[in-house]
This record gives sequence, C-alpha cells and structure tokens, in this order.
Amino acid sequence: MGTITLINNETGEKFDFELIECTRGPKAVNFSKLFEKTNIFSYDPGYSSTAGCESTISYIDGKNGQLLYRGLPIEELVEKYKFTDVAKLLITGELPKDDIQSQEFDLELRHRSFLHEGLINIFSAFPDGGHPMANLSSAVSALSTFYFDHKEMGDEDDYQTMARRIIAKITTLVASSYRNSVGIPFVYPDVSRSYVENFLYMLRAYPNGRLKYSLSGEEEILPLEVEALDKIFTLHADHGQNASTTTVRNVASTGVHPYTAISAGINALWGPSHGGANEKVLDQLREIGDVKNVDKFIARVKDKSDPFRLMGFGHRVYKSYDPRAKAIKGLKDELAKKGIKMNDRFSEIAEKLEEVALNDDYFKERNLYPNVDFYSGIILTALRIPVSLFTPIFVIGRMPGWCAQVMEHIKTPNIRITRPRQVYLGK
Ligand code: ACO
Repeated sequence: MGTITLINNETGEKFDFELIECTRGPKAVNFSKLFEKTNIFSYDPGYSSTAGCESTISYIDGKNGQLLYRGLPIEELVEKYKFTDVAKLLITGELPKDDIQSQEFDLELRHRSFLHEGLINIFSAFPDGGHPMANLSSAVSALSTFYFDHKEMGDEDDYQTMARRIIAKITTLVASSYRNSVGIPFVYPDVSRSYVENFLYMLRAYPNGRLKYSLSGEEEILPLEVEALDKIFTLHADHGQNASTTTVRNVASTGVHPYTAISAGINALWGPSHGGANEKVLDQLREIGDVKNVDKFIARVKDKSDPFRLMGFGHRVYKSYDPRAKAIKGLKDELAKKGIKMNDRFSEIAEKLEEVALNDDYFKERNLYPNVDFYSGIILTALRIPVSLFTPIFVIGRMPGWCAQVMEHIKTPNIRITRPRQVYLGK
C-alpha cells in the first residue's frame, strides 16, 4: 500500500497519508485523519474528488463509458436477464441460478406488491393534480409506519424482507400515486402477471380490472412493451454514489428507518439536474418543436448570458457516451423497427440535437454527451406512460440499487454519521 505526502508550504511540516488500492479505477487517498493530523480540512463542494464510502455494488468507468453491477456489464445484464433478476443480483450479490429461481423471485415480489388499505387511504388526502413524485415520497415515508419492525434489523433475512417489500410495493405505489393525481380509483395488483406486466396493468386497467375495450376486443399488454420497460428498469437499477443514493446513505447514517432514507432519496432524484431531467427532456423537445429550430437552441446553450441547458446532456462522471443512453437509443430504434409507434417528430429532433452537439466544439471541449434521460422519454411516451410518471419510473428502476446501498451502509462496521465541515466566511 503506497502513501502520499502533504507538505504545508507555510510551516514545512510533512504528513503521510495512506493510498487505497481500489479493485477498479484510480487510487484514493485516505484523508479520514487529515484534520486530526494537520488541523486542516479539505474543501470539495459537490464532492467531485471525494468518496464517502466503500462499495461493492456498481462501478462506473466514466472515461470509457462502462457501467457494471456487481462486476457484470449492463449490456450483458440488459440482454440476458430480467429486471427482477438484476434486482436479486443487487440485493443479494447473486443472479438467480436458473429459470425456476428467477420465476420464484418474480412471484415473491408479485405476492408482496399489495398495499395495506390504510396506506391507500393516505392517498385520498392528497389533492388531484399533485405531482406523483410528491405523493410517492410521502407514501414511501408512510410505509415505514406500516413496517416499523424494519427500523432495527438483525440477520440477513430481516434485510432481505425489508428490501423485497419495498421493491415489490413501489410499482403499486407509483401506479397509485399517478391514479390519485388524476382522480381515478386504484387497481389492485394481479399476481398472475409478471412484476413488470403487473405494473403496466395497474396503470392502464379500468377500476373493474379490465383493460381498454374497443370493437376489436379487450386490449392486451404486449410482451414487447413489457420487455422494453423491463430493460429501462434494468438500465436505471444502480449508479454509484449519485446525488439520490448519497442522500439515502447520508440519511441512513443517522439511524432512521431505511424507508424514510429511501423517501429522502426519492426527493433528491426529483430535481431536474438529476432524475427529474427525463421529464424536462420531453418538455424541451416540445419547446424546440421542429428540427429546423435545433441550431437556435444550440446557440442558446452557448450563450453565457442565457441559463439554458440542454436537458439529458452532460454527466458528472461520464466524460464519454453514457452506456445507458447508448442502450436506450438502441432500444428505441429496435422498438420502432418491431412496430412500436414512436413520436417521429421528437425522435427526429433528439437525433438532430445529438448529431449537432457531438460535432460542436462547445460540447466536445466539455465532454457533454447524451445521458440516460435523453432518449428514455421517447420510449416511455410510446409505451403510453404519462410524462409526470417518467421520474417515478426511474424510482422503480433505482429501488433495488437504493436497497442494496442502504443495506451496505447500515452493515458497515463502526458506521459514522455523515457530518461534513464548512468553509466559514461569515462574521
Ligand atoms: N447543456 C449545456 N451545457 C452544459 C450542460 C448541458 N446539459 N451540462 C454541463 N454544461 C456545461 C456547463 O455550463 C459548464 O460549462 P462552463 O465550464 O463553460 O461553465 C460545463 O459544462 C460543466 O458543467 P457543470 O455544471 O460543472 O457539470 P456538473 O458535473 O456539475 O453537472 C449535470 C452535471 C448536473 C448532469 C449537468 O451536466 C446538467 O445540468 N445536465 C442537464 C441536466 C441533466 O440532464 N441531468 C441528468 C443527469 S443524469 C442523472 O442524474 C440521472
């Protein structure tokens, strides 16, 4: 293990700090005793150069555009496995061993997807038209009152029950938060449908449980639609120490109920700089309106007096193409080929924006590429998912990741409360 020496040029004092060898990526310097040894602390707003934890869950290689969950590339996971398999991988460290285990896990989640009637009644207190993300974070926080036993967890079974419960119920909560926001009654889960199909069913069905009916008969949920949404969930399942995951860990570090920490993560995700960007991308495509206006909007991005930013572009860690964006763009093209109707105008504007941006010096100099949110809205629109549900869809996808992260954090020996310092410049 190497060391690094810090020299105080004012006093000439030298201090050695241990270098940590990560299994992948650059080394880290252990500054946990920096203040104790030197009476100086580090300043790193936005934490671009700071790790707050050790983790074995996901790894991002921002330079080469690579993302791994438990050491496996997302391209392989999205191609060969279902979202529920990936959820199992994240929370247990192992993929299902065979198809039977895979089916059993999916079925377990379906059986756990029902909500306590008291929780459903909470929704009725929310006004019509409230954003589903606000309903959702409140409902997830309220979930802790129905499962208060998860506040203290003893063995691995307790952790698994806590995680499986919320991964299962989040689909019902998202569907319910949307239905409540537009004033329509809830639909109970149908355990005969797979995890992802059941979610689409709870979203689309009439209150009597039947799907849309026309002269040609009752509509079906297409396997292709289920597969597409499944892949979108997988591509969102975990992503290192991003803002919402860091929030989940920070809140969990105080010893609260894990569902309240996850509720805080939902609120962090809602912001337009983070998961809320998928909703804003669609607003922006609508605002641009026509492919002929693309140049005008690119000029606005470059105008320093204009705060306009291209939503769905840029990332703190990726300095090359976001592999999730690449996969989602491929999925969009594949679905269009297989007959799922895309909004051609939005698709055309998005592709033109990307083409212009990737060849423009402003974007090249700043390494700005499309991120996960850039193309996802176009697919979600084709799946008839309302725009206000784009970020809640992200929540469903990210839930296994948050559960794995919160479990890893709480289990850390001698876990310390998150408590950064400040550079005080006041009176
Ligand atoms: N459009 C135009 N310019 C941009 C964009 C963008 N989307 N993103 C960054 N830049 C520019 C900044 O203006 C800045 O330029 P400057 O050096 O001339 O001042 C430079 O690139 C660096 O930007 P920062 O804000 O310092 O980058 P940071 O790493 O802090 O921010 C973020 C990353 C928040 C994602 C940013 O790129 C952004 O706002 N993107 C749009 C929102 C978005 O798509 N968010 C989703 C991210 S993915 C996710 O969270 C799931």
